[in-house]
Parts: sequence; C-alpha cells; structure tokens
Amino acid sequence: MTAAQALQEIGLAEIEAAAELSALDAVRVKFLGKKGLVTDALKTLGTLSESLRREAGATLNATRDALNTAIALRREVLTEQAMHEALNSSAVDITLPGRGQRAGGLHPVTLALERMVGIFRRAGFEVATGPEIENDFYNFEALNIPRHHPARAMHDTFYFPDGLLLRTHTSPVQIRTMLDRAPPFRIIAPGRVYRCDYDQTHSPMFHQIEGLFIDEHATMSDLKGLLHEFLRLFFEQDDLQIRFRPSYFPFTEPSAEVDIKLPSAHGFSDWLEVLGCGMVHPNVLTNVGIDPNRFQGFAFGLGVERMAMLRFGVNDLRLFYENDLKFLRQFA
Ligand code: PHE
Repeated sequence: MTAAQALQEIGLAEIEAAAELSALDAVRVKFLGKKGLVTDALKTLGTLSESLRREAGATLNATRDALNTAIALRREVLTEQAMHEALNSSAVDITLPGRGQRAGGLHPVTLALERMVGIFRRAGFEVATGPEIENDFYNFEALNIPRHHPARAMHDTFYFPDGLLLRTHTSPVQIRTMLDRAPPFRIIAPGRVYRCDYDQTHSPMFHQIEGLFIDEHATMSDLKGLLHEFLRLFFEQDDLQIRFRPSYFPFTEPSAEVDIKLPSAHGFSDWLEVLGCGMVHPNVLTNVGIDPNRFQGFAFGLGVERMAMLRFGVNDLRLFYENDLKFLRQFA
C-alpha cells in the first residue's frame, strides 16, 4: 500500500467517525486544508523525478478526490441529521390539551369602588365628577381653608409651577357641583386623589368617594343613619360596630371621623378609621352662593383603598399598586 493509500484509508475512517458538522470540518482541514496532510504531500511532488512524480501525483490526486467526495456525502448525512434534531426538539405535540385563556378580572380597588357606588345609587345618589388637576379655589379656598390655614399643612399637596395642584381630596367636587346647579343635592363623587406620602397605609395616589347631601331639612342623624346603613351593607355585617369620633375639618361643623370594628376573622381587631364627615359649614354654602339659613346638609369622604383592605383582608396598601398577578388573581 502506498503512503497515499494509507492516508486515504485513515482519512475515510475519520470522516466516517465524525459525529457532527464541526468535527467533519476539522477532519477536512486536517487532510485537505492549506497545511493539511494531503496538501503537504502534493507540495513535495516537485522533489521527485518525472516518472515517479507522475505516478505519485496521480495517486495523491485520487486520494484528494476520494476524501472530498466522502466529506461531501458525510456532510449531507450530518446536515440532515442536524435538521431532524432541530425539528424534533421544537415540535409541538398537537395531541396535548390546550393551555386555555384565563378570564381577566376587575382590580380589587375597582371592585370595592363599584360596590360602594352601587349602594349609594340605590339610596338615590347621583355620580358627579371633577378634574384631578385643580386650582387653589376649589381644593382649599372655597372649602373654608384660606391661604394660611394650618389644615393645609396636613394635605401634603403636589403643586405645579403655575400654582395648579393635584387635588388632595374629592371635596372640590362638592364646590363644582354646588356652583353648577341649584339645590337640593344628593351626589357622590368617586375619584383619584394625590398626597405626597408613601408607606404601608399611604400611597401618593389613592381613591376617595365624596358624598354631599343638601336640602332644607337634612340633619346629623340623617348622616349617621345613612353611613351606618352603608357600612353594614358594604361589609355584609348586620351587627357591624361603628363609632362617630368628634373631629375637625374646616368645611364641616360639627365634624366626625367614623371608625368600624370588624370581627377578628377579617384579620383586624381594633377600631379602624374609614371616613371623615360632618355638617356642611355655613361658610362653604355662602362661598357658592347658597343661603345657609335656608339650606343645610352633610358631606363625607371615604377612603376606597382602606375599605378594600378591610373587606378583602389585605394588610399592605402597596399590594394594590404592584400588580402582581398572583395577588390580583385572587379577586378574579
Ligand atoms: N376631604 C376630607 C379628607 O380628605 C374628608 C371629608 C370629606 C371630611 C367631607 C368631611 C366631609 O380628609
């Protein structure tokens, strides 16, 4: 056997043994590359005598061609094999059951808000709205909170450079409604409000529902009865404990905050404040051109997130805004 034939046999064996395209290419370089074994042998032909050179040249050329052909065939096999592997690994098993679509659901804050609005609507209240960007007059001045009133400090107001502000409560909707129409009024105003505050129970944006009831006879006991009934319906607890705690708001006199106590099954056992309320201050009525000697009534402001936390047993307000699907799906 000539050296060329020996080279050919080794080459063919290595080609056959190449298990993937990269290995095959390494074999090609080893034998037929610029510095490959066959190439090197071809380069030495010049040192032989003419008759030897012709014979050795012919065998080496035959070896080179045989290896080239074998590589081409092997490449076809390996390419096909790689393609099958790729197809198999990405195959879709159409006999598996489908993954399905989960139905979406309303956000818990929306659920609580809609529930509250529903209860007040059935009690004859209409929904009113107002802008979230307000001016000083509607958010403070007309509500009997003049410029240097200490109550302003409690509002942690976000101001714009031009003096406009993000409303700190839904109470400006009281003013807009009273300026817009004639009494009597029986409205609720749900919406977003903003305060520069952030912790486990405060978020810089949250929701309130404002209530306003004005006619010629409305009294504090009407306010008490309405809110008590509302809270009983909202929490579905006939014997819900509530208490009115004297408080202060510049736009109501007298004013109260309302606390509730839920059965400990809800995860809260202490008194919890849920809303502020009171009889509309005569100055507020005067500010919007309503005669306080003829009309009177009450107003209240409810924290929607607080109510949602109590109803659903959520202990951190921030969960409502993180939008973790594992949290949200519990309400779907
Ligand atoms: N606007 C008050 C607040 O945000 C709540 C309130 C509304 C109190 C209406 C009394 C009457 O704290």
